[in-house]
Amino acid sequence: EKAGYEHFMLKEINEQPRSVHDTFSGKLSELDGSVNLNELHLSNEEIRNIERIDIIACGTSLNAGLVGKYLFENLAGIHTDVDIGSEFRYSNPIMNEDILSIAITQSGETADTLAAIRSCRSYDCNTIAITNVVGSSITRDANSVLYTRAGPEIGVAATKTFTAQLTMLYILAIKFARAKGTMDINHAKDLLVNLKRIPGQIQKILNHRDEIRECAEMFAQEKDYFFVGRHLNYPIALEGALKLKEISYIHAEGFAGGELKHGPLALIEDGTPVVAIATKGHVYEKILSNIKEIKAREARVIAVANVDDTEIEKYVDWVLRVPATDELLSPLLSTVVLQLLAYYTALARGCSIDKPKNLAKSVTVE
Ligand code: F6R
Repeated sequence: EKAGYEHFMLKEINEQPRSVHDTFSGKLSELDGSVNLNELHLSNEEIRNIERIDIIACGTSLNAGLVGKYLFENLAGIHTDVDIGSEFRYSNPIMNEDILSIAITQSGETADTLAAIRSCRSYDCNTIAITNVVGSSITRDANSVLYTRAGPEIGVAATKTFTAQLTMLYILAIKFARAKGTMDINHAKDLLVNLKRIPGQIQKILNHRDEIRECAEMFAQEKDYFFVGRHLNYPIALEGALKLKEISYIHAEGFAGGELKHGPLALIEDGTPVVAIATKGHVYEKILSNIKEIKAREARVIAVANVDDTEIEKYVDWVLRVPATDELLSPLLSTVVLQLLAYYTALARGCSIDKPKNLAKSVTVE
């Protein structure tokens, strides 16, 4: 059932061209820049009346939510908060019926996320669940259910469900943006065309996995690993660190590049591996200056950069390449590189990849 792969995690990483495709399939009309989301029980008028979005999730799904914040704010102009399920349920949230809460949960069974979304309903908020499991508990608690079509995920580390969640967030953000008139038709068309190209681009990354494996093996015996990114790549840095720590047991932390000098630089020393997500976009120069700060401490930098970026090689020790896409969509590609980096690191360390110690696939208790 692992289809010839040594681990479910590797199989699931390799399924992403299909799972991303299946998640958007039938929903994108690039001819008129619209998306069809019949499962969404919100009229355009209701969308225009959304005062704020509150995304609630845990773990990897929370990292997807953090990407979602940038999408809803940048594309649809809707202020978006992202809350950890276990914190939200014991907070005293300021909620009302014009706030839309979106639960993101692959399993649909995470106890803290379920409790948080139930509390949103008690404030009469409209609720959306993004989940991968048909008929899971969350589907009974939300007004609308948007299914990701990743197929069953067996490996404890979330991989294909994460990129499927991101895919659904792009679709939803474009839907909101078009309903609100904050995104012109040509921009929407371009984004949809580029989204359709993502599965093929993920396949290109998968085809070059030996380069990522070589890099992973170089650094596999390190004690600490840092990940930095800015803007949309900041949550991807968090996700890269989470994937690495959970399956390889290496201490890993993700930071927003601008935060380095507010503390983390103290930990960066001679030889420390630092992964910098440096794909092209409006913060490219900013992450380059962060890379220079890191190099000044003699750390070793692994950059995730675009295929055609020849400049980056001057500043870093290792480059892992991703195809160029719209900067908003680049998390869908950079993530795959970081999943493979974590996988091959854990493999080199002989870890129990599909069932890491102390972790369960779905956390149904608080
Ligand atoms: C990490 C991982 C966990 C889950 C978290 C939420 O790889 O799998 O962090 O993302 O337990 O799970 P769901 O999405 O089922 O609510």
